[in-house]
Amino acid sequence: MANSIGMAAQLAGQSLRFGWYFALNRLLDWRTDQLGRGPRYRPGGPVPSLSELLASQAELLMSDALAVRDGLYPPMGDDATTPLRHLARVNRMFADLPGALSRRAQNNASSVHAEPAAADLPAYYAQDFHFQTGGYLSEGSAKLYDVQVETLFMGAAGPMRRAALRPIAEFLRGRDQRRVALLDVACGTGRFLRQVRLAYPAMTLKGLDLSRAYLEEARQHLGELRAIEWIEAAAERMPLPDASVDVATSIFLFHELPPEVRREVTREIARVLKPGGMFVFLDSLQLGDKPDWDGLLESFPYRFHEPYYQGYLSDGLEAMFEAAGLAADLTGTPFLSKLMVRRKAQEPQPWTPNA
Ligand SMILES: C[S@@+](CC[C@H](N)C(=O)[O-])C[C@H]1O[C@@H](n2cnc3c(N)ncnc32)[C@H](O)[C@@H]1O
Repeated sequence: MANSIGMAAQLAGQSLRFGWYFALNRLLDWRTDQLGRGPRYRPGGPVPSLSELLASQAELLMSDALAVRDGLYPPMGDDATTPLRHLARVNRMFADLPGALSRRAQNNASSVHAEPAAADLPAYYAQDFHFQTGGYLSEGSAKLYDVQVETLFMGAAGPMRRAALRPIAEFLRGRDQRRVALLDVACGTGRFLRQVRLAYPAMTLKGLDLSRAYLEEARQHLGELRAIEWIEAAAERMPLPDASVDVATSIFLFHELPPEVRREVTREIARVLKPGGMFVFLDSLQLGDKPDWDGLLESFPYRFHEPYYQGYLSDGLEAMFEAAGLAADLTGTPFLSKLMVRRKAQEPQPWTPNA
């Protein structure tokens, strides 16, 4: 039965959310100009207009609402925070801006080295991604990350992540969720896992990340919901047995990895997946996915510390997944993201002679 009320609630909630983050996005831009943004990067490639971006975002929100109407998964609804706590985080985001801009002006991405955990982590990781204070390692960064990302994407980060729920719903069709294990690789602050948990209360869920602070924020964000196994580890060396998960997801991770680590992580994902298992990848668009937007993608690493993004933009993801034994299933480009669904081959069935 069509869930029209759910769809209406989803659209209303998303419209309010969009309005709020759009306002924050403009305000942050204005404040950045006030503080001295520094020279603007002039991309060589074409850049979408604001109205093109907004139209694409509206398409994303509509597709999410239609999935709710069709009963594929529940509305986004509850995001486990209070307005006051949210406002406090917005306030901290603005307070953090001068420091981040000053690091950007000096091209200094090393505030993370003040965090004791940095010494034991790989050098490619121990950097201030996006010029965040404390990189991925400080408690403050874990508390600011989501409001920063949603402000950047005008409230579309959550809906882009939710595009990964559709292939999961299709995988689950005809299966008992109690017998399905899902692993979110680089789960960060657990925003996607909360959506998965709301849709599948009985599924076995695991969230893996290298940042203890982000895992702690994720644990709090999942709060009262049924427990998830949190794993503090590197995605290129996951402490999980071979063929132990049915679905692996990874959202906004690969563009932050050096090319060789991207391949190691892909092989690890293929290793831990069961035969017939599904990998759902969601990350930034690449060059050529929406050719008229290439200039926007090119400019991203000039605004935020993203040391591996340029290489990611033209990395051969198809070939990388194929080489690891993850065969193409489906590819899409919701708003600013690229969704790739890949399947690990089934084990060959033992031959039985015809009766
Ligand atoms: C851009 S955030 C994305 C987080 C989350 N998936 C989301 O949707 O917001 C990247 C995350 O990847 C984690 N990360 C980066 N490299 C990693 C690695 N090699 N192993 C595990 N986690 C990693 C970071 O700690 C951070 O939480």
